Amino acid sequence: MEVIIKPDADAVSKEAARLFQRQLARQPASVLGLATGSTPLGLYRELAAMTQAGQIDFSRARSFNLDEYVGLSPDHPMSYRAFMREHLFTHIDIPPENTRLPDGLAPDVARHCAEYEEAIRAVGGIDLQLLGIGTDGHIGFNEPSSSLSSRTRLKTLTPRTIADNARFFGSEDKVPRHVITMGVGTIMEARSVLVLAMGASKAHAVAAMVEGPIMADVPASILQMHRFCALIIDEAAAGQLKRGDYYRWVFDHKPAWQRA
Ligand code: PGA
Repeated sequence: MEVIIKPDADAVSKEAARLFQRQLARQPASVLGLATGSTPLGLYRELAAMTQAGQIDFSRARSFNLDEYVGLSPDHPMSYRAFMREHLFTHIDIPPENTRLPDGLAPDVARHCAEYEEAIRAVGGIDLQLLGIGTDGHIGFNEPSSSLSSRTRLKTLTPRTIADNARFFGSEDKVPRHVITMGVGTIMEARSVLVLAMGASKAHAVAAMVEGPIMADVPASILQMHRFCALIIDEAAAGQLKRGDYYRWVFDHKPAWQRA
């Protein structure tokens, strides 16, 4: 895992945007795995600005989002489809038909999940998967105890995630209890993975992910097994790493060609 520590959240977003730009320059028809939540907002603003400036081209890209709330229609303002429309899709030139999210209203959830997996396979798999990390160490909505080889499926949110996400809904009782999420195994099949984290509230989860044992109790820890995983964090999110100075030293001394 390449751990890149940046001074602040803005620098994290800019570095992540640079990696997206490079991915699409190398492979214009990339399949992107996208995320929602607070973490990617700065990155999405950067990608919108780069699109405006003609510095990035999404016209041949495809995307699959990690997750969606069960019971919310794509038009519901708190659905992740609405989030993606508002914060990214209407600001970049990706064809709308190339963007996929799980369907929160799918009548047959198990079948829908199998079809989502098949749709990812049919386009050759995900080239670059973007992830945030939950304060409990989840990736996507794979909560602690999720199988580390799980596939896209329905998950029941933990009380902690419901509390963390209540800020988007106004109160905890409005947060749906169920989601459809790509599995940990689905995420691990992406060719490269980019995890972002900002703020002291993520410091514990980041340390457990990078330096703790690999275990289902911290689903993000399985990324230690991924061959091409970059983690870009700000100083606050790096606050509980034991080897922060070492990661900085490595970053400063790595040959440029070997960097994420
Ligand atoms: P956040 O959530 O970006 O809203 O902090 C991250 C996550 O739950 O994966």
